Amino acid sequence: MKVLVATEKPFAPAAVNAIKTVVENANYELVLLEKYSDNSELLAAVADVDAMIIRSDKATKEVLDAAKNLKIIVRAGAGYDNIDLATASEKNIVAMNTPGQNSNAVAELAIGMMVYVARGLFNGKAGSELKGKTIGIHAYGNVGKLVGNIAKGFGMKVAAFDPFISAETIDADGVTVYNSAEELYSNCQYISLHIPANDKTKESINYELLNKMPKGATLVNTARKEVVNETELVKLMTDREDFKYVSDIAPNNAEELKEKFDGRVYFTPKKMGAQTSEANINAGIAAATQIVNFLENGDTTFQVNK
Ligand code: 3PG
Repeated sequence: MKVLVATEKPFAPAAVNAIKTVVENANYELVLLEKYSDNSELLAAVADVDAMIIRSDKATKEVLDAAKNLKIIVRAGAGYDNIDLATASEKNIVAMNTPGQNSNAVAELAIGMMVYVARGLFNGKAGSELKGKTIGIHAYGNVGKLVGNIAKGFGMKVAAFDPFISAETIDADGVTVYNSAEELYSNCQYISLHIPANDKTKESINYELLNKMPKGATLVNTARKEVVNETELVKLMTDREDFKYVSDIAPNNAEELKEKFDGRVYFTPKKMGAQTSEANINAGIAAATQIVNFLENGDTTFQVNK
């Protein structure tokens, strides 16, 4: 069996070694395609592999069509909006993610960006502290829960909205539960986004919702750029000089935002929330292990196209 690791943004070397060990212990062969710059390289690499591990790499219909022997594709990470699930299902390819494995890295970055923006992007002028402020966690999954934990350590008040998680579960963590996004946004100076990108959530973070946030508001996005309505964000930031936006995924209109709202926006040069050795090792080993467990025992835990 051949297992391809196709990562435009490579894992840390220690994670690649760990993946290699899992793959070779199963007597499979590891094929590595890192830092590729053209989709044709990915199309060539998938031609004869049985399994593949990706990160935010796009597993489009074209890629899945070219992968004639592919039985399983694992997104080493949480969000799987980069996999054409309908095509995968049509072709009987099992698609999985590795939930929770890189969450701590993303949560730490979300808080780090909050400190950065609260301190005026380190411009030397008097900024503000996180202590005593309220953070609203929009979607209380693996990352959201960890952001809440860290925020408590900073002395922040923590609130959350998640229609898929029971109020009791959130409440048990000492987190205030709101029953709608509108209520959450109305009550929080900081909002940290942890919703997936799908047909329901795309562009759902719009003018009306963001404008509910109190004065001195900051939106922190370590989720997906697609969930924010970028045109309406420009209008909002024009109307509200107090509003700040920091994101680990530069929006399509990043240059316009940087020019118009200098000092009030920050975008990492490349998505780096999950880019730590620890997260790479955790997610990489989980992905490789899930592949072996599926190919050897038919284990479909974590399948997302059931
Ligand atoms: C995820 O969905 O797990 C994160 O967005 C990480 O993405 P990455 O593997 O491309 O860094």
